[in-house]
Amino acid sequence: MVLLSLVVAPASTRGGASEATVATFSDATVATFSGTTASQHVDALAGQIGSRPAGSINYDRAVEYVSDQLRQWGYQPSLQSFPVQTYDDRGSRVEIVGRPGEAEIGATTLLYSAAGQVEAPLVAVGLARPEDFSATRPMDARGAIALVKRGQLRFSDKVANAAAAGALAVVVYNDGPGSVQGSLVEPSTIPALTISGDDGQRLLDLLAAGPLTLRVAVDASIEQRTGTNVLAERPAGQPEAGTVLFGAHLDSVPAGPGANDNASGSAVVLELARVLAERDPAQTAWRLRFALFGAEELGLVGSHAYVQSLSDTERGSIVAMINLDMVGVGQAWRFGGTDDLVQRALGVTSDLSERALPLGGAQNGASDHASFLEVGIPAVFIHRLDDPNYHTAGDRPELVDPTALGEAGAIALGVLDGLAPPSR
Ligand code: BES
Ligand code: ZN
Repeated sequence: MVLLSLVVAPASTRGGASEATVATFSDATVATFSGTTASQHVDALAGQIGSRPAGSINYDRAVEYVSDQLRQWGYQPSLQSFPVQTYDDRGSRVEIVGRPGEAEIGATTLLYSAAGQVEAPLVAVGLARPEDFSATRPMDARGAIALVKRGQLRFSDKVANAAAAGALAVVVYNDGPGSVQGSLVEPSTIPALTISGDDGQRLLDLLAAGPLTLRVAVDASIEQRTGTNVLAERPAGQPEAGTVLFGAHLDSVPAGPGANDNASGSAVVLELARVLAERDPAQTAWRLRFALFGAEELGLVGSHAYVQSLSDTERGSIVAMINLDMVGVGQAWRFGGTDDLVQRALGVTSDLSERALPLGGAQNGASDHASFLEVGIPAVFIHRLDDPNYHTAGDRPELVDPTALGEAGAIALGVLDGLAPPSR
């Protein structure tokens, strides 16, 4: 990923505590973390604002909301902006040419498909493996629209194989009855979209009866936009103290309101900022930083921009990054990342008598803590498993459990309070 520029406004977070900190942190009472209060942030972000994809107006509204909240507790949040590429999908169409009445077929853009309109004969090419286009096969995809079955290969490979065989567009039908939303790993050279398994079968039946011409269109574009991280800091008593960073991604996928993914983690970070503002800085070993990252769903772009903006010294001063992502739905806690921090999180949850397990390999790259691990900063990923509404319109605020948010807060605070005291 290439980052063209980084702008930090209004006050640079470089150089640590002083510029981005707050004049008045009250030490009168110590607030306790409230899952119910956190769930109000979920309602505001996912219920009132709604879907918050990177580069959207709703994302800017979410930035405003969290900044207002942070200011209310005495922080001076700073905004860090970075370039992002977004894929704006304005929809796709599939039509059978010359069949009035049964012409229109419901279509879904394969994200990162090329835009364009093609009218050409339809040819069924199986799974679109390289061998499906071999010279010995009677089907010739040259100049045609390729009808491809989902499965075995990635969408990207299917589309690339069809394009290499001379196809002008690709229609992938689902391997189950309903429809599917897929994404290519990089932009394609020809229009590519999906249809339901039922419609795929109908086209195969029609093809068996004779030649068929389709008109397919993808209306979409890649746009250069700006992503934003929101950063706030609470100083430590000692200027040379190490930093503990609490982070969550504030953006969502376009498909839904992103209540669990990740208004839930954002809400917990806000509630942590509220309760930790009331701890006496003089008594606290660590500088505390709160980060709401942008463009996570586009490939951890905001957290990557953030770690890239840090000097080696600043990176070295972060003793723990605590990432909260999808913490409000599901039955069991899962922790990934740096072993020592994972063990601390596991220790807290056994106190909560919750089921909790360390997490291995694959899912460890799936959220913002990975940007920190990549440059050697200790990090822990706190999340719950098994959200049936992951990345769908069904990821709604009423399904986020305030009790789970409360536990997420307790786990994060437990990790913080269990950190070994700084060596002087
Ligand atoms: N919140 C998810 C990651 C996740 C998935 C956490 C399941 C816990 C359980 C995150 O926002 C996401 O969707 N990540 C992408 C990868 C990322 C690099 C774009 C993913 O997992 O596909
Ligand atoms: Zn997420």
